[in-house]
Amino acid sequence: MKILVLGSGAREHAIILALRAEGSAHEILCAPGNAGIAQDATLVEVDPMDGSAVRAFADEHGVDLVVIGPEAPLVAGVADVVREHGIPVFGPGRAAAQLEGSKAFAKRIMEAASVPTGRAVRAATAAEVEAAFDDLGAPYVVKADGLAAGKGVIVTDDREAALAHAQHYLPHGPVLIEEFLTGPEVSLFFLSDGDTVRALSPAQDFKRAFDGDEGPNTGGMGAYSPLPWLAEQFGSEAAFVEEVTRTVALPVVKQLDSEGTPFIGLLYAGLILTPAGVRVIEFNARFGDPETQVVLPRLRTPLSQLLLAAATGTLEDQPQPEFSDEVAITVVLASEGYPEAPQTGRPIEGLAEAAAVEGVGIVHAATAGPDAPGGNLIATGGRVLNVVATGSGFADARARAYEALGRIRLDGAHHRTDIAARVAE
Ligand code: AMP
Ligand code: GLY
Repeated sequence: MKILVLGSGAREHAIILALRAEGSAHEILCAPGNAGIAQDATLVEVDPMDGSAVRAFADEHGVDLVVIGPEAPLVAGVADVVREHGIPVFGPGRAAAQLEGSKAFAKRIMEAASVPTGRAVRAATAAEVEAAFDDLGAPYVVKADGLAAGKGVIVTDDREAALAHAQHYLPHGPVLIEEFLTGPEVSLFFLSDGDTVRALSPAQDFKRAFDGDEGPNTGGMGAYSPLPWLAEQFGSEAAFVEEVTRTVALPVVKQLDSEGTPFIGLLYAGLILTPAGVRVIEFNARFGDPETQVVLPRLRTPLSQLLLAAATGTLEDQPQPEFSDEVAITVVLASEGYPEAPQTGRPIEGLAEAAAVEGVGIVHAATAGPDAPGGNLIATGGRVLNVVATGSGFADARARAYEALGRIRLDGAHHRTDIAARVAE
């Protein structure tokens, strides 16, 4: 197959590595990609935000499948333009992508589909925010409505900080004040063709910047999969996945279909397992980053087959995706100052030595160069690299990942040292 992947981060690199792992049967193109992706796919020049340009490119080059990685082109309606032209696209159209693009839209769909989620109040003024705080109590959860690259949510006991956060976003529209939910978080991905869904293996993301879940929220500092502790609460991972499929994924997909806006792509359910049961905290309309980096290396079913089936409405003919018994962890290496003010443009060294550690792969999130032979690879963003390690157990995979990280040099870089530490005990 000729596959065009849109995006430039570690998620897209992980998708491309999974497609590559199937063998040499595919020609893989990526726009715009990064320095790591350039080693595994052909970078092409087409603006991922311009639907007409993507459609024209796919047409001209005989692309069989377009895979849209990030949320921005989805919310901008790029999938609609390409799909209308008859080209298979993995990624929802503008309307269904509102599940991620608008927290208020997501709440409405969940209500209509009776999906369990936290109680939330829409507040359009500071007075309404204060009233909602009084009503729901501390800790306070404030969510900006639109896309905010992981920065739109604050969870805090500090009422003043919560109010300041709300006031920052209020000029752009109402915010959601949500009931505080407590329990472990799980990210569960579903492939959807608009009608049928197929679940992938669960993962857990580490959203806070520093060890011990301290510091600001980030796009994600690490992840691991599978989640062995799910079996304690649900009997087995399969039982958990079955419950979420039945109570969350299928009702949402059916609801969107009934509204004439089918969800074709990756439905990401962000869940909290509260003492009262599973609750949805967010949906995303694309693969999670960094969770994808630990889910796809464990996938045994060919990814291209699943993505194409979702894009062409034939997921029903596909088996349930199979996963290896190996575990996977990923640790994100971030630039100095991430997430507030990442320092970019610094050289990265030691990648070959890091990749030489058994079971380790390096996935690039924000890299460029070297432009000249003998030149340096440089960091171009906040989250720079993901070290991914697989192993027979978490202690094993952690040892490999951190050994590899120790071999990478990037001035001022930071990473968490406690990814999958508890589950490894
Ligand atoms: P979101 O962008 O909606 O995933 O929120 C970012 C993070 O905030 C989540 O991963 C949770 O850790 C936390 N969070 C979101 N909603 C709630 C909630 N209702 N109660 C407690 N924590 C929450
Ligand atoms: N890891 C969180 C996200 O992809 O939104």
